Amino acid sequence: MIEAVERKIAQFIVDLDDQDTVVLYNKLPRGKRLRAKLILKIAGEGIMAVKTAAIVEMIHAASLLHDDVIDDAFVRRGDASLNALYGNKTAIMFGDVLYSKGFYELNSIDREVAKVISNAVVQLSLGERNDVLLSAYFNHDKEKYLKMIYQKTASLMEASAEAAALLAGKPREVYRTYGRNLGIAFQMIDDLLDVTQSAEQLGKPAMHDYEEGKATLPFIYLYEAMNDEEKAALSALHARVLKSEDQQWIASMMQQYGIIEKCYAEARLLIEEAITLMQHAGEHSLEKIARAMIERSF
Ligand code: FPP
Ligand code: MG
Repeated sequence: MIEAVERKIAQFIVDLDDQDTVVLYNKLPRGKRLRAKLILKIAGEGIMAVKTAAIVEMIHAASLLHDDVIDDAFVRRGDASLNALYGNKTAIMFGDVLYSKGFYELNSIDREVAKVISNAVVQLSLGERNDVLLSAYFNHDKEKYLKMIYQKTASLMEASAEAAALLAGKPREVYRTYGRNLGIAFQMIDDLLDVTQSAEQLGKPAMHDYEEGKATLPFIYLYEAMNDEEKAALSALHARVLKSEDQQWIASMMQQYGIIEKCYAEARLLIEEAITLMQHAGEHSLEKIARAMIERSF
């Protein structure tokens, strides 16, 4: 039950004995709690699983607080982000509080589990840095993109699944692969939705990634498919505010070259591998989580 994780996080916050932190925490949208759900599905709902899930969600929330400052994002999950409401300093410092409390609590869980999670946080930080570095130019290198999304997004899902397997005495490598595939596919689909969905559906501006300089998989594949003249036109739009005719041109090019289907098929392959692993492990609810991920919003 995810409520047990919510209660644990709330208890960690109350432990801090700081009213300002309680107020800020109550302003924070809860999110999907996907990582916590993975942990509970794999490890059951014992105290150690709940604690691990709470720690992971606090670290994840902290990373999004920092990410919105780094990305100058004023909307998160359809609402004003914390940096939009209270400014960058508050968002960073509150992120630090959530992050450090989560890290402190890692001390009281199994050493190997703590090692898996803390290593993922290093990857997360490197991934965010690489995301920013890759946005400084039009990156056409798919391998760099894949490494970056693995670090930025998949590493914490991979670690969540592996940590939960350790807690439950299940084979860690199987669950680690499941979590990694889920995480990479999740970010690929997130990047795809930025191209295919409207601002209303997204709860944030559409095609914003490319405006921010982020050449995600659909842009890498589009560039590969284009002729020289089209390549030059696409490059000229990189990291610029897109007019609606620019957005329409990009969308029509993506359609012409079958880019959305190509990206979707790549994410689906990872999900199918994850589903097969869970079928063999007899983990039907984890199979369902993987299926739901590929079906979201399409
Ligand atoms: C969202 O990516 C960002 C992440 C998943 C990772 C952010 C990581 C850090 C800021 C470094 C670690 C920091 C701490 C405090 C542990 P996105 O911008 O592509 O997605 P979005 O559209 O949801 O913003
Ligand atoms: Mg962001």
